[in-house]
Amino acid sequence: MSDFPLIVGFQPLSDNNRNRVKTIKRGKGIYLYDASGKEYIEATSSFWVAALGFQNEELISSIERQYRKLPFLVSGMHRTSDTSIALSEKLATISAIKNPAILFAATGSEANDFLIKVMKYGAFDEGQAVRMKFISRKQSYHGGTLASASLTGGHHSDFGLPLPGFFHVSQPDFHGGRLPGETEEEFCKRLILEVENLIVKEGKESIAAFFAEPVSFSAGLHVPPKNYFKCLKKLLDQHEIDLVADEVVTGFGRTGRMWGSESVDFSSDHATMGKGITSGYFPLSAIAIGESLQERMKEKSRRINSFAHAATYAAHPVGAAAALKTLEIIEREKLLEHAATIGKLLEKELRPLGEHPLIGDVRFHGLAAAVDFRIRDENDELSTEDPIGLCNRINSELIEDGLITRPVNGSLLIAPPLITTSDQILEISEKIKSRLGKLTV
Ligand SMILES: Cc1ncc(COP(=O)(O)O)c(C=O)c1O
Repeated sequence: MSDFPLIVGFQPLSDNNRNRVKTIKRGKGIYLYDASGKEYIEATSSFWVAALGFQNEELISSIERQYRKLPFLVSGMHRTSDTSIALSEKLATISAIKNPAILFAATGSEANDFLIKVMKYGAFDEGQAVRMKFISRKQSYHGGTLASASLTGGHHSDFGLPLPGFFHVSQPDFHGGRLPGETEEEFCKRLILEVENLIVKEGKESIAAFFAEPVSFSAGLHVPPKNYFKCLKKLLDQHEIDLVADEVVTGFGRTGRMWGSESVDFSSDHATMGKGITSGYFPLSAIAIGESLQERMKEKSRRINSFAHAATYAAHPVGAAAALKTLEIIEREKLLEHAATIGKLLEKELRPLGEHPLIGDVRFHGLAAAVDFRIRDENDELSTEDPIGLCNRINSELIEDGLITRPVNGSLLIAPPLITTSDQILEISEKIKSRLGKLTV
């Protein structure tokens, strides 16, 4: 029974009550405190967002200063804020996309949605629809709006999705998706062939873009096989299909580099970003649009004398100030290097868990780890045990131990804020090792 009217997502609606939902009252650094005063380490940065932790005074002050200067302004109809322009220039400078145009939005979902929309704007010509189809990967998450939820590789039938024109191919999840005995190279080739077959089936001229996270956090921290993105890009280029890096989670230092795409050698035509851009202190996201699409957009706009798109809170001056300050702190405090260093420490601490008989795989990338409960037997077949149930149970137990982790498709994910110290990494690792040490076959 609900005992408050608030709908909390990613749980059954019947759990909307104070017994099942923790009420968090405050946060400081990497810690959260619930209504009873109990302390939790937020070892997922609250859905991969709070890069600078929960009470960064410098960031809060810069937000307050912007509120006093210009608390709000819509970007549109020949007006925008100086702060919004400054952030677009900063993002263009650090972007992995060459000479990008920057379009702002408020959430990662909107960023993916708006990119699809401007791709359609660039492709829709005098009543003739061309390149209106989109490919993404199963189990991926790209957002909650209709188009981004259609890109998302699951939860479709619950909501009558995907919309027409969205197609999903296999996730580069080598541990869970390989055929028995298949090498990583063979697995990679098979996945690229799957994309090629889909392109041929759907008609290469009809497909606009392929959306992918450089490292699939949303599917369970899958680091792609070595040549996956190189082969994928080559195939897509042959058919003039754009590749989009969804950097909503992997951007701004999570992988130990500014962009996840740099961490896995993945060159894309456009990128979407959000979450860590303001460390979550203000809703803001952005799209870096590559040159060829910009040209098509400009040409269309010249012809019809319009680009009828805006969003009230996109390019919000307070969000822009928060993002500029977040980036300044990340650069000044060398948080990319720090994330890489403490990520290595996390790996050193947790890698031995891979030997546990109930753990099938452990994966690490930047400042992130996954403990995968999907077991393979001596014939390399996936076991029929219930890894998701076990993973969810461990997750609940860890929360009782004061550690917030995230279960994703049978893997337990850990991705603490970029400001986490080495001692705190040891504290996180100890809690996980101690809980998993109690697991018996
Ligand atoms: C990879 C990825 N893309 C997009 C989104 C959507 O972002 P938002 O929740 O800000 O709309 C998410 C959210 O978790 C995500 O993980």
